[in-house]
Amino acid sequence: MRDGFRVAVLASGTGTNLQAILDTVHGRDGIEVVGVGSDRPAAKALERAAGAGVETDVFPIENYGDREARDAAMGDWIEGHGADLIVLAGYMQLLSPGFVGRFPNRIVNVHPALLPSFPGLDAIGQALEHGVGVTGVTVHFVDEGVDSGPIILQRPIPIPPDRDREALEAAIHATEHALLPEAVRLIAAGRVKINPENPRIVRIRPESQE
Ligand code: GRF
Repeated sequence: MRDGFRVAVLASGTGTNLQAILDTVHGRDGIEVVGVGSDRPAAKALERAAGAGVETDVFPIENYGDREARDAAMGDWIEGHGADLIVLAGYMQLLSPGFVGRFPNRIVNVHPALLPSFPGLDAIGQALEHGVGVTGVTVHFVDEGVDSGPIILQRPIPIPPDRDREALEAAIHATEHALLPEAVRLIAAGRVKINPENPRIVRIRPESQE
């Protein structure tokens, strides 16, 4: 791996995915979380970052007037920290096309379903209502659409026979906490490549070929 891989994380909520990254990736193999940003000053994720000694900043829309201006400031902050990768860990705002275009294939998101099924809000509820037998977790690059970018990693999770939401949520979150850090490790190691002939297809290079 090349020297030092810098990660910025954006989070709006409780930040359990951020915590998984802090606990299992941050400070290892040259990977550093260099900043955690949020649209919500009250996000618990910010406390988690501070607890790990990671710098934080907040970008509430009210301070900027519109999403483009907010995202421009957030992008400047991220670039100022020299981030190689931006991880959306429960960041609940849609990013502007300008922001996405500024960091092509350098933003990843974790989504609680097997995309392209059940994009958007309440993916777990969508899966339960749809009657599928299997759902899961997807980590993908972010493009201008909603949960539509190239898929990096996926893991299936069976729907419990009683379709109990709490049990399914617990299984999905536990899987997210393994899959998102794994994707960050793979990207940092340079093992995630977009197919130049078909940019929707991501290839993970096996470890033995490094
Ligand atoms: C996760 O379920 C993730 O899939 C979704 O938002 C949730 C964030 O949870 N994008 P947390 O803030 O990491 O606990």
